[in-house]
Amino acid sequence: MQHPGRLEGKVAIVTGGASGIGAETARLFARHGASVLVTDMNEALGSSVAAEIGKANGTAMFATQDVRDEARWAAIVALAESTYGRLDILCNIAGISGRDPKLNIQTGHTAGPRLGDQTLEQWNQVMAINATGVFLGTKAAIPAMQRAGGGSIINISSICGIIGSHANAAYHASKGAVRIFSKAAAIQYAPDRIRVNSVHPGFVDTPMTQPGHANPDIARRRIEVTPLGRFGTPYDIAAGCLYLASDEASWVTGSELVIDGGMTAN
Ligand SMILES: NC(=O)c1ccc[n+]([C@@H]2O[C@H](COP(=O)([O-])OP(=O)(O)OC[C@H]3O[C@@H](n4cnc5c(N)ncnc54)[C@H](O)[C@@H]3O)[C@@H](O)[C@H]2O)c1
Repeated sequence: MQHPGRLEGKVAIVTGGASGIGAETARLFARHGASVLVTDMNEALGSSVAAEIGKANGTAMFATQDVRDEARWAAIVALAESTYGRLDILCNIAGISGRDPKLNIQTGHTAGPRLGDQTLEQWNQVMAINATGVFLGTKAAIPAMQRAGGGSIINISSICGIIGSHANAAYHASKGAVRIFSKAAAIQYAPDRIRVNSVHPGFVDTPMTQPGHANPDIARRRIEVTPLGRFGTPYDIAAGCLYLASDEASWVTGSELVIDGGMTAN
């Protein structure tokens, strides 16, 4: 039996849609009936994701976007409204690890620079993309969602936004900012029926984690701390985003959805 899509008639923007979790989320949203504006800095890959969705009879288009650029955010929201008529869903997925491959040490569970090796420039770059980008996107989407009578904003944080580790403090700080920013935005815009939630993936196999997971020692340690005994897939995370985007989550706001194979339960 063919079930109706869970996002039928909805319009979504998915940032970071060229790769990994973002690409899978864009595909899944489209399979469930959403019209998807896929954005990313990577034009070649992002265009191919939108084209793939089109070939599978989904509705998608691609636009280049650097999530740090406030003026571009206004243009992206305007593009979604002018092309598809409204905006219901914003999935803020674009992000960077901020790791310098030369300093990709493994101290504990997380690879990345220790605080003493982290430069102000790296810190600012990680915060600008992972945290400020989410603020700018949320701010830009709110008036369009008010016009639509409500909406769902899904901000990708990380387990690193809940717990610390031996490395990469900038990444932890940026993801912690996303977590608490989402709760503040949820409270402020609940009267407009705009829901804002954060998603906290554990170790997921994507191009971002590929350099670390290609190292058998790092891969083994990460699997060891994951009770379900495997890395997450982009689909594992996209499925959580689908729930939060759908009307099934109409009473869910300010919450944090941890999808980590049990890692942070331990
Ligand atoms: N893979 C994991 O284990 C994991 C775990 C927790 C959280 N996350 C988060 O999930 C999100 C997606 O990560 P992924 O693993 O799919 O990585 P990925 O590298 O495959 O995808 C990230 C995408 O973001 C884009 N991007 C980077 N900077 C951008 C910018 N300034 N403007 C627009 N686009 C930009 C990249 O071009 C890329 O397509 C990130 O926010 C990441 O921090 C990933």
